[in-house]
Amino acid sequence: MPVNASGEANDVIKSSNIVWHQASVDRTRQAERQGHNSAILWFTGLSGSGKSTLANAVNAELFARGLSSYVLDGDNIRHGLCKDLGFSDHDREENIRRIGEVAKLFLDAGVIVLTAFVSPFRADRDKARALVNAGDFIEIHCAADLEACESRDPKGLYAKARAGQIKEFTGISSPYEAPMAPELRVESGKRNLQDCVEQVICELEGRGILRAKAAG
Ligand code: ADX
Repeated sequence: MPVNASGEANDVIKSSNIVWHQASVDRTRQAERQGHNSAILWFTGLSGSGKSTLANAVNAELFARGLSSYVLDGDNIRHGLCKDLGFSDHDREENIRRIGEVAKLFLDAGVIVLTAFVSPFRADRDKARALVNAGDFIEIHCAADLEACESRDPKGLYAKARAGQIKEFTGISSPYEAPMAPELRVESGKRNLQDCVEQVICELEGRGILRAKAAG
């Protein structure tokens, strides 16, 4: 069982005397008013694989269609909610646990939430998936390979990792476990951004999360 820095199990509720309060405005009512369902679009992939770029571009399309959506981005969240976490396996697990819980709150609020985290460990992604109902969690693998990500190196981090200046860097000195059966795999290292956006939108339409645009 995973433990936190104090040696306590992560999935144990420490508080006592707490009672779950049922919300009167639930997800169904949110969906009725907004005219669309919520979902979690979980983007995973190596650093530099295009997760944030793709999530933001998909979000722009959702916004243009008048839908409620929001992007949770790894680098941004690590400036606030997760600023106490580093990149050890344990801290990454806690990072993804928190994001899974936050994404679930967005789902309850009727929002389509797009998460862009490396989320390198299968077990951690699967725990986030298990928090919600089947069909609510769409795992999207940004499948750009290490060579493509390293040659792009948009933040100069691969160069630093190769030079030994960043330890536990995903793909170099820390593992990335690719999804076995993601809902969608996007060749973000080979296809251009617009193609990738269309692939995601098409998948969401196919799953009934989005309505297809009327032709013409
Ligand atoms: S995760 O592994 O816990 O899911 P997360 O997505 O929040 O990672 O943060 C990854 C981002 O932090 C990368 O895109 C990169 O910009 C930066 N980063 C800094 N150090 C590392 C590292 N050791 N491994 C991976 N990414 C790192």
